[in-house]
Amino acid sequence: MTETSTSEPPQFVIDLIPSIEDALKSQILSFNLPDDLEEATLYAVMNGGKRVRPALTLLCAEAVGGPVDFAMQAAVAVEFIHCFSLIHDDLPALDNDHLRRGQPTLHIKTNEAMAILAGDNLLTLAFLQLAQSSFDDETKMMMSRELAEATKNMVVGQVYDTLGNLPSTLSPIEQVKLVHENKTGALIRCACVFGGMCNAHDKSAVGAIASYGTHIGLMFQIVDDLIDLHGCEEHVGKATRKDSEQGKLTYPSAVGVEESKNIIEHLKNEAEHALEPLGASADCLRSFNLWLAQRTR
Ligand code: IPE
Ligand code: IPE
Ligand code: MG
Ligand code: MG
Ligand code: MG
Repeated sequence: MTETSTSEPPQFVIDLIPSIEDALKSQILSFNLPDDLEEATLYAVMNGGKRVRPALTLLCAEAVGGPVDFAMQAAVAVEFIHCFSLIHDDLPALDNDHLRRGQPTLHIKTNEAMAILAGDNLLTLAFLQLAQSSFDDETKMMMSRELAEATKNMVVGQVYDTLGNLPSTLSPIEQVKLVHENKTGALIRCACVFGGMCNAHDKSAVGAIASYGTHIGLMFQIVDDLIDLHGCEEHVGKATRKDSEQGKLTYPSAVGVEESKNIIEHLKNEAEHALEPLGASADCLRSFNLWLAQRTR
């Protein structure tokens, strides 16, 4: 496998996955949850996600010279929020999906009540995780604020995506950008900023990382829209061609496939540009950016 292989992430990301999964699992087990809730939480978290967000936190921490063991604690919090967002995104009242990461969604595997409550719990555990982490109090406070803001924005994006009511003063392309920056971009940006915050003394590096995160965050959802349009269920691990069926506002529906690809290319270049101040320490983020632009699942 090469670093430009489109179906699998770069090898250095694949190499991070076992330690990320160990940290996720041991954290979940440390919360002393009742058996049924623990089982549902493990089912929804330990089920083969790509771990893009925790990997970004670790790689961004590495790029700014922050301690990686600390970064893992922040990475876990972001992945908890992401998994919560997926559980609720799949519920009948939202996207009504039956397949996630190649397996039945949590509400299909258990029931709706458990899926709602396991989601609620993961949202809470993310902040508990930060509160119990090894960061100093000031960093904990900055991270909690950052994660709360990103989660609020994700929910705002999900409201726009599910219920519409977008500002009518915006053009269609401005509307879809607003949805995507919120529902997906915000948490990916937060994952990156968390890595930057692991070395809070270097404020300009955090700025560069935040700009990188903003561009790849929007790009991630445009690529997801194209995967929904062109991917097959077995490869992607979730139902495809759902967006048009459900009348979702997507980049391909708003501007067409070719223009969506042009915008992905532009965002990829902007993300690359954002990393310039970081020099060679950001090389892994550069390779990851290339893969994120062309991934097929
Ligand atoms: C899926 O995210 C939801 C979106 C924001 C598009 P991922 O594609 O990162 O899902 P997993 O975690 O790998 O399953
Ligand atoms: C997901 O967007 C955004 C979230 C906050 C979960 P999608 O609804 O497009 O994600 P998938 O395609 O179901 O993974
Ligand atoms: Mg959705
Ligand atoms: Mg969905
Ligand atoms: Mg999608």
